[in-house]
Amino acid sequence: MTSDILIIGGGVIGLAIAVELKLRGTKNVTVLCRDFQAAATHAAAGMLAPDAEIIQDQAMRQLCWRSRTLYPEWTRKLEDLTGINTGYWACGILAPVYQPPTSPAPRESPAYWLDQAAIHQYQPGLGNDVVGGWWYPEDAQVDNRLLAQALWTAAKSLGVDLKDNVTVEGLIQQQGQVIGIQTNTEGMIRASHYVLAAGAWASELLPLPVRPRKGQMLSLRLPDFVPELPLRRILFGENTYIVPRRSRSIIIGATSEDVGFTPHNTPAGIQNLLQQAIRLYPQLQDYPIQELWWGFRPDTPDELPILGTSHCENLTLATGHYRNGILLAPVTAEIIANLICEQKSDSLLPNFHYTRFHTQPSTAPMLTHSANFTNGHRAIAPLPTPDSPLPDSPLIIAGKTFQSRLMTGTGKYRSIEEMQQSVVASNCQIVTVAVRRVQAKTPGHEGLAEALDWSKIWMLPNTAGCQTAEEAIRVARLGREMAKLLGQEDNNFVKLEVIPDPKYLLPDPIGTLQAAEQLVKEGFAVLPYINADPMLAKRLEDVGCATVMPLASPIGSGQGLKTTANIQIIIENAKVPVVVDAGIGSPSEAAQAMELGADALLINSAIALAQNPAAMAYAMNLAAVAGRLAYLAGRMPIKSYASASSPVTGTINS
Ligand code: GLY
Repeated sequence: MTSDILIIGGGVIGLAIAVELKLRGTKNVTVLCRDFQAAATHAAAGMLAPDAEIIQDQAMRQLCWRSRTLYPEWTRKLEDLTGINTGYWACGILAPVYQPPTSPAPRESPAYWLDQAAIHQYQPGLGNDVVGGWWYPEDAQVDNRLLAQALWTAAKSLGVDLKDNVTVEGLIQQQGQVIGIQTNTEGMIRASHYVLAAGAWASELLPLPVRPRKGQMLSLRLPDFVPELPLRRILFGENTYIVPRRSRSIIIGATSEDVGFTPHNTPAGIQNLLQQAIRLYPQLQDYPIQELWWGFRPDTPDELPILGTSHCENLTLATGHYRNGILLAPVTAEIIANLICEQKSDSLLPNFHYTRFHTQPSTAPMLTHSANFTNGHRAIAPLPTPDSPLPDSPLIIAGKTFQSRLMTGTGKYRSIEEMQQSVVASNCQIVTVAVRRVQAKTPGHEGLAEALDWSKIWMLPNTAGCQTAEEAIRVARLGREMAKLLGQEDNNFVKLEVIPDPKYLLPDPIGTLQAAEQLVKEGFAVLPYINADPMLAKRLEDVGCATVMPLASPIGSGQGLKTTANIQIIIENAKVPVVVDAGIGSPSEAAQAMELGADALLINSAIALAQNPAAMAYAMNLAAVAGRLAYLAGRMPIKSYASASSPVTGTINS
């Protein structure tokens, strides 16, 4: 089965994109939805609240405002198509407070401060302890469930092929393209272009840092004895919001819980919501409860959506809308349709590109964000992100600063996608590439220019496959050109490998030293791969190498640290960074090398040949961080005899 454009996700984002694509004349559009009712779309309250949500990020504010502006026309168009009134209502939002603000927040959008007398006059019935509040006249609401219904109906009437209760199990990728998707009920489905709009479930298909953030909600029904809706605007309290609908429902939201996909309403969640809502607007306490529900917001580390191109040329991303999916639906549809139909990239899009998560400087750089990696159907849960308890300096090589102490490679992966996912998961900033393999277009090395984001990843060209100093020098020069072609004009790094021996792949010390001398003269930052020979390491440092890279055991052997004593001496004597390279097979060995005081690690085979490379890459990153921290923390001395954990001094002897 083929389709022009296949959208994964039948929430408000996926449907809005489908409708927009159809309206622009796309012939075949398919939407796959795992469970229409489970989408965050249904759980939302439908606030269109860029002002009340106090969005700090400038680009995000622009995006939200643009979308809010599109709403009246967009919902009218949907009504024309379907006859469904979505309940769009420019009702404004009132945000009462219990403490007078210490300083008025600088606001670019219309927001009016109402003092105690004014707010109680403007909105009778507020809790006694409300001392004032902000009035956001431009914020609005839509009935999100009616909107979902309108979008579904519009999509259907425009000829979108809508499939509910279909779970996408995998994106099948080949050479930078999605070539099909595997589903649980429909087998393989192919399209020429794909859109991932799977909300909180996006990370089950790609290693994107999207996580569920649960929200519990409830609604009340305005009793018959209250003839008129007493609330004519949304109340946005400090820990709750109350959204009155024209239909006489009153929505109360929402908890914000980091509990994964744990379903159900809980007594604590509902109690908390009710308490806050009654404090804000006490008369609610007598209204009948209509419904309780919950949903999962698609949260991202910076709470901004992930929009735009992906690592695959025919896959567009539109997910991670967190608290603002309903609001952002029309602008997302417009921007994504422009991108797909007209290759027009909106000026705001770079702010929302997925690559922003690839590097993130901090004292605990490698733990600052996490992603889910799936192993079959088992999701590996993201780990917590502790702050580094110890200050650390970054890794500096030839004057260039790196936050990550793990370097990886591109060789031996089963597919280019596994390589890409692993590089992301490892959080590395340096990736070594065999110049010869790129030249020869060895499998996995074609399309490398597009495969990784070279604006974020520093390329370390290596001279693998060179048996003599002369060959290595020639290949190093080619490597420099290669880095230039990728836009790294100032990249003069080379990982020098001179390996005449095909069986053990042990480097030639004399050839390495000769080549290093020459390359340093030519202005290269030379990172020589060597046997763990302290004398050689010193000589290489003396000729001006930028690092030394002693092997832990033979390349690709996964034998672990076989040269510990010598590596220790190299670390003790080196004034340049020591990068332990080759032979590390597992995270425990990676951690051990870092505990010795190595400045960094280069790991390729142990990641590429793991059953789940991305998960192993993630584990190696954690090991490198843990080992580094342990080194800084200083391990306890090893003793010959036991020593009791509870001291005996000061105890009472009877
Ligand atoms: N948009 C409000 C919420 O996510 O709770």
